[in-house]
Amino acid sequence: MRVLDPSEVDHDVPAAVGACLGDLLEQRLEEAEATDPVFAADLADRVARFALTGGRRLRSVFLWWAMRGCGGGPREAPRALGVAAALELIQTCALIHDDVMDGSAVRRGRPAVHVGMDQQYGTAGRASPCGTFGGAAAVLAGDLALAWADDAFVQAVRGAPQEERAARVWRVMRTEMVAGQYLDLHGQVTRATSATRAERSAVLKTARYTVAHPLALGAVLAGASERTQARLREAGHSAGLAFQLHDDLQGAFGDPAVTGKPVGEDIREGKATYLLAVARELCLREGDRAGLRLLDEVTGAPSTRAADTGRASGAKSEARPAHPASARNARDARDGADGQDIARVLDLLDRCGARERVSRRVRELCARGIREVRAAGLAPDAADRIGALLHAACTPGAPTGRPVAAAPPAARDTAGPVLIGEAR
Ligand code: IPE
Ligand code: MG
Ligand code: MG
Repeated sequence: MRVLDPSEVDHDVPAAVGACLGDLLEQRLEEAEATDPVFAADLADRVARFALTGGRRLRSVFLWWAMRGCGGGPREAPRALGVAAALELIQTCALIHDDVMDGSAVRRGRPAVHVGMDQQYGTAGRASPCGTFGGAAAVLAGDLALAWADDAFVQAVRGAPQEERAARVWRVMRTEMVAGQYLDLHGQVTRATSATRAERSAVLKTARYTVAHPLALGAVLAGASERTQARLREAGHSAGLAFQLHDDLQGAFGDPAVTGKPVGEDIREGKATYLLAVARELCLREGDRAGLRLLDEVTGAPSTRAADTGRASGAKSEARPAHPASARNARDARDGADGQDIARVLDLLDRCGARERVSRRVRELCARGIREVRAAGLAPDAADRIGALLHAACTPGAPTGRPVAAAPPAARDTAGPVLIGEAR
């Protein structure tokens, strides 16, 4: 079995994972080329470029330092890099599909994959049975990334003493990510207003998938006890939730040059985020009818009706199927939500205290997560690295620890607004 000096990887984990991913994708691209040159150029190459040229490799770094902190060394290192590469490919799938589902045009400062496909073929706005050609093609691109992720995972853990335990974490992680993404869509279409529900979706789509499971995978690969694994999962739950709530805040108030996506997309799309749920709760409590009406009009949720009927708390309200007519009106309102509407909602989020309340929760959850990592019994240096990364990932303006990768020169789909940042 291949061994590797892990202290070399310690200096720059993202670079080592990138190199491992590069080797792996070279093989996949050769196979794709042999299958069909159009498929290879349009889909396989796009998936590979997406995976290789962006992202902070957060999951990989969490996995690596959990492995190191649990005593993993030269024998475990190649497996850890292989599983990390697999995680990056799952993330590629998740983001490509997410941008189709969320109707997001920009990712990591570049056109989202479905938008790039439509630009290439001039099919933007031309409806097909499944949205646009670009949307349909991006579904396939995401599928390809997911298939490659599974192949990479199987290859990395084959024959390892912890193969079965690692596979169990992998299975749960994949399923939970899909469940979280579905709850996110379900919350949007049913105009859910509950903060508890928004939190559930954030836990599944992000906290467990981005932090808890990568930490657990690292621990498993190093042969750590169930107890250590469970403690890291706990830490990942707190810190990962902080990460998603921070991401929601950044999506609303962050600098597009840092986040790599336009301001206010969640608001425009009527996403049932925790931030908006808290705003609704605070407006209800204060009897701020104008605020509730604004949230209604711009995000399409039924808050004013809830206020009129005297319903006490948005947090307790259940998601209900959208009434077709009101859903259409809400959609019309959203379609019309312009920069001014978004600015009014942002102002309300500030004024009603939702921004401050969610920011406080982010700080508390992040601090708790870092404490829990320290209490999990990892080697101190590894716990420090994980703690520093968690802090950076949940703090506005904190350095991400990784220079932003430049867009590949002359890439076909880099036309349009180029933002330099990236949040995930
Ligand atoms: C994306 O969630 C979660 C996954 C891809 C699993 P969001 O839709 O909230 O994230 P952004 O804002 O598009 O990055
Ligand atoms: Mg999204
Ligand atoms: Mg989403």
